[in-house]
Amino acid sequence: MPGTVASALRCATISRIKRLPVGLIRCMNKPTSKVLVINDEPLILKELLKGLNAAARTLDNPFGITFIGALTAKEGLQLIERDGDVQIVIVDDKLYAVQEGGRRAGGRAASSRDAPRSLQMTALKLVQKITALRPELDLYILIEKEKEDQIVDALFAEAVDGYFYREERDYRGMYRILNAQIAERARTPFYDALRAYVLSAKDAWHTPGHSSGDSLRGSPWVNEFYEFMGEHVFDADLSVSVKALDSLMEPTGVIAEAQQMAAKAFGARKTFFATNGTSTANKVILQTLIAPGEKLLLDRNCHKSVHHGVVLSGARPVYLDSSVNRKYGVFGPVPKKTILRAIEEHPDAQLLVLTSCTYDGLRYDLKPIIEAAHARNIKVLIDEAWYAHARFHPALRPTALEAGADYVTQSAHKTLSAFSQAAFIHVNDADFKEHLFRENFNMHTSTSPMYSLIASLDVSRKQAVMEGYKLLQRTLMLADELRAQINATGAFRVLTLEDLLPEDVKDDGIRLDPTKITVDISSCGLTVDELQQELFSRFNITIEKSTFNTITLLLTIGTTRSKCSRLYDALMRIAREKRAPRRLYRTPDIPGFTELVYLPRDAYYCGGELVPLLDDNDQPNANLVGRICADQIVPYPPGIPVLVPGQLITENIVEYLIRYLRVQNKVELHGVVYQGYLPSIRVLSAAEERKLQPLRQTLPTRLVA
Ligand SMILES: Cc1ncc(COP(=O)(O)O)c(C=O)c1O
Repeated sequence: MPGTVASALRCATISRIKRLPVGLIRCMNKPTSKVLVINDEPLILKELLKGLNAAARTLDNPFGITFIGALTAKEGLQLIERDGDVQIVIVDDKLYAVQEGGRRAGGRAASSRDAPRSLQMTALKLVQKITALRPELDLYILIEKEKEDQIVDALFAEAVDGYFYREERDYRGMYRILNAQIAERARTPFYDALRAYVLSAKDAWHTPGHSSGDSLRGSPWVNEFYEFMGEHVFDADLSVSVKALDSLMEPTGVIAEAQQMAAKAFGARKTFFATNGTSTANKVILQTLIAPGEKLLLDRNCHKSVHHGVVLSGARPVYLDSSVNRKYGVFGPVPKKTILRAIEEHPDAQLLVLTSCTYDGLRYDLKPIIEAAHARNIKVLIDEAWYAHARFHPALRPTALEAGADYVTQSAHKTLSAFSQAAFIHVNDADFKEHLFRENFNMHTSTSPMYSLIASLDVSRKQAVMEGYKLLQRTLMLADELRAQINATGAFRVLTLEDLLPEDVKDDGIRLDPTKITVDISSCGLTVDELQQELFSRFNITIEKSTFNTITLLLTIGTTRSKCSRLYDALMRIAREKRAPRRLYRTPDIPGFTELVYLPRDAYYCGGELVPLLDDNDQPNANLVGRICADQIVPYPPGIPVLVPGQLITENIVEYLIRYLRVQNKVELHGVVYQGYLPSIRVLSAAEERKLQPLRQTLPTRLVA
């Protein structure tokens, strides 16, 4: 077994058995970086590789750089696709193939001078193909002096990092430049500064009160917390008083730099770090883009934070009904025709908000939707809370930014290595008003953000660009294998895209993120609650989410093969116990949208009154029917509202909420208030309604396919 694999396994085993924090174990793998040179002349290529590898061996080589070669564009592309350690590609300005017969097509001297040659691919074409495959790679071009202007001109708009003259053969100089290029991409400006500051052990006469953990360390009562969390959690917990660490609210130093590097990595004009999740990121964008009374098109099943943004901004929402897969209790995307119709009917809307991918991994064919919105000057915000990893593997692209979205919010903590709450806000809007955004961002941002969260965003960007492709390659392979294993149990079945797609979006070009695996459990003989309990108590396994007949598993770049094996083993054991299938009680279907009678913000800011869901006879309270809800009523998870402020309450909705509370006693129902044991909801009083301007005459507020 190679040393690195063996030591990695040893470390993993030790940390599991002794339950030591992994950070305490010194298990530092050195990186491996490959620079691929694509040149079709075997002798020249051989000489280049020899010279460059000699430079790498004799000069300082912290990134483990080695040089490898490919003689054809095709072979080069295959290597880039196969080998996740390729970090830089050097492309000859023109690539020729030597042919057996025919005419001479290329001009340059070759090893086989007499053989005819034909152009395989220009550097421009190859650069475009490489960028489409792996945009995070650095690219250099080998050129001849005579053609310099022509080539640089042709590649001007491409992501080319630099040029080398083919004939110069300054291998040590080339190596130094390439090494510096990798060093630049692998930099983490904020984290580097934070670590340097912590290690310089300055005396803190500022917040936080624990003062680098000094208040805890010596305490007989709470030192255990200090020991458990680890010293750096405390000494890296600093404050805005530390000028060297910049300010999240007005970044000009290391935070600004880290954000710029993130923007480059994700393909945005600008990126901002948010330390209160995509939840806050969504609210900031809505408040920035929409003034009170302005129109907003949004998927009714958007995350609750978008609905909170509607209240905060005073937007006039037009809700788009999403598709629902009733067989599995899964919400799908909004049908394309509903979105396109909304865009046509509401050209005065400021913004369209969609979630892609959904919790279950369904993602839109965004390009035509965004183009239609842009044709009407409507900006587009895509909630990519579940899709921050997508940029780093071609099987998952295009991302929303690549499809042209103006604003994208991503929970870096959900699928990358950032700490919980750490999120990215990406901006691609040419009309972006940064001062307005800044005001809104600062309105929501704590003046004491946690610095380790910011550092984790910086580090997750670095990881994504340095090894995201390689890790995702592995994750996708594990996802494939796990699907086959789960299906092999006989009692569990992984749902395919076709299974998941509701009928009305079947032709909308929707795709599935394979890292989300939804499993039909209806043949296993357990209810979903029993299955989750069994997985947890017998096998130490916690899953992402469930519906009444499915469980959803989330694979990320942190998923290991042994974790997959343990899950497979658990499911196989449960399957072999051969329980008779149970009758599964469907979760009540979420009622369709009723009607928005008042602006959500107007309704929300009414004092309202609490009315119980049940009457004195324990029946659905008829007094609620026809009333207007003042709060957002949201089962969590998944966080999709049953009622929004300003919405008309019907008998159906009251019955649904009661059934939901009875059947789903483990799910939170945000917005429901308990008066003693009585679940109640806040509704507008008659007097309050009289004072408000109803929307009825002014606007249809709901669109269905
Ligand atoms: C679609 C969607 N958007 C936003 C969020 C909120 O993200 P965060 O937890 O980062 O605040 C979630 C959380 O589950 C979500 O599912």
